Amino acid sequence: MFVVTFYDREMTTTANDWAPDSWRALPADQGVLWPDSEALYAVERELAKQPPLVFAGEARRLTEHLADVSQGRAFLLQAGDCAESFHDGSADAIRDKLKVILQMAVALTYASGVPVVKVGRIAGQFAKPRTQSFETQDGVTLEAFRGHIVNDEAFTPESRRPDPTRMLQAYHQSVSTLNLLRAFTKGGFADLSRVHAWNQQFVLETIEGKRFSAIADDIERAMRFMRACGIDLGRESSLHEVDFYTSHEALILPYEQAFVRQDSLSGDWFDTSAHLLWIGDRTRQLDGAHVEFLRGVANPLGLKVGPTSTPRELVALAERLNPDNVPGRLTLISRMGRDKILDVLPELITNVKESGLNVVWACDPMHGNTFSAASGKKTRRFEDVLREVEQFFSIHHQLGTWAGGLHIELTGDDVTECLGGGQGLDEDDLEINYTSMCDPRLNASQSLDLAFRVAEFLQN
Ligand code: TRP
Ligand code: MN
Repeated sequence: MFVVTFYDREMTTTANDWAPDSWRALPADQGVLWPDSEALYAVERELAKQPPLVFAGEARRLTEHLADVSQGRAFLLQAGDCAESFHDGSADAIRDKLKVILQMAVALTYASGVPVVKVGRIAGQFAKPRTQSFETQDGVTLEAFRGHIVNDEAFTPESRRPDPTRMLQAYHQSVSTLNLLRAFTKGGFADLSRVHAWNQQFVLETIEGKRFSAIADDIERAMRFMRACGIDLGRESSLHEVDFYTSHEALILPYEQAFVRQDSLSGDWFDTSAHLLWIGDRTRQLDGAHVEFLRGVANPLGLKVGPTSTPRELVALAERLNPDNVPGRLTLISRMGRDKILDVLPELITNVKESGLNVVWACDPMHGNTFSAASGKKTRRFEDVLREVEQFFSIHHQLGTWAGGLHIELTGDDVTECLGGGQGLDEDDLEINYTSMCDPRLNASQSLDLAFRVAEFLQN
């Protein structure tokens, strides 16, 4: 351990003694044991010199969009990979992921009439929290795989050794991913006149794909109609562009700290590694390092809320992370599992509501519904995912609160990682195309299917 002087820069200590490195005095669950602290420090200094990935103004704008969500006027769609991979940052993979997210957003907006705030788990989602710090295979025990920002998944001592230079690679891959996303979302690809082009070949043949084609036809017809009425569609930039935001779990704090910059306009600190950062279910200790770090940055924040959350703890966390009760600042992402949500969530919502806290409630129906198939592969049932989402909506409906968002793991590829859905995938099908390094993701047609169902819940 060494004392850090925030990379030679002078530190201004802000209210309540927060500083970009104040988390270092606290216990960090999921903390990586970097074997070479000199090498780590060199990387941190290098990262701190890099240009920011996002700007303060963008993060503030996302907070404003999320404020609309917290007030029941918009819906949050947060989606992307479980963990991004150094082995696959190709333009095609990024494009296909974006296609699915755009499709889901269109389906949701069109069917429900509610504006959708689009946030990717992308351009920085490289770290993976682990329940076990070590893994044993055939009597050999090695460090667990913690995502490509830390080590590699191959089961060898060299691969599993945490290597801080991976943080540099994670940054550079995030830069190129974000650059492409900005081009796609602002440069014509996300134009509403191109809706048909987001429907991939293998989706076209499914029921969801056909349903999407019908919506795309409707949208084209509507645009033709408006044009015929004399409206100059070329001038309506909202038809041609989307605001697309990035997010990841702020797990590896040395990396996150290196991107903390002070906004010259407001004087606020921002973590410029992504627009939104979230705290995982395993690292949400009130007096832990992750909560300490994130409470001091002005980005919008997410907090995963699992079945072990208690009302008292949750209210304390919300107050710590959002002391000024700013709408849009805090999104609570419920990840209970289909069998637990009804027992746990209503009491949490009621307490948050009675405490007068402004939050967005989103549903992550993935992480509480994972199990191992007979083959040992991790999987999820589409039916369980859907059942959790349905209960999420009905609980909010009964309590008079707004079911504000959906948080899912998906890919644009035609993978067979989750069971069920329109294609009726079964356990044998898991062998066909299972490419996830960690959690099983919905494929494009399962994702679209889910979006249509959610749109129905939103309408009611
Ligand atoms: N800009 C609007 C929005 O983001 C409309 C829009 C344009 C859109 N392209 C889109 C919506 C693609 C969803 C998907 O809502
Ligand atoms: Mn995951």
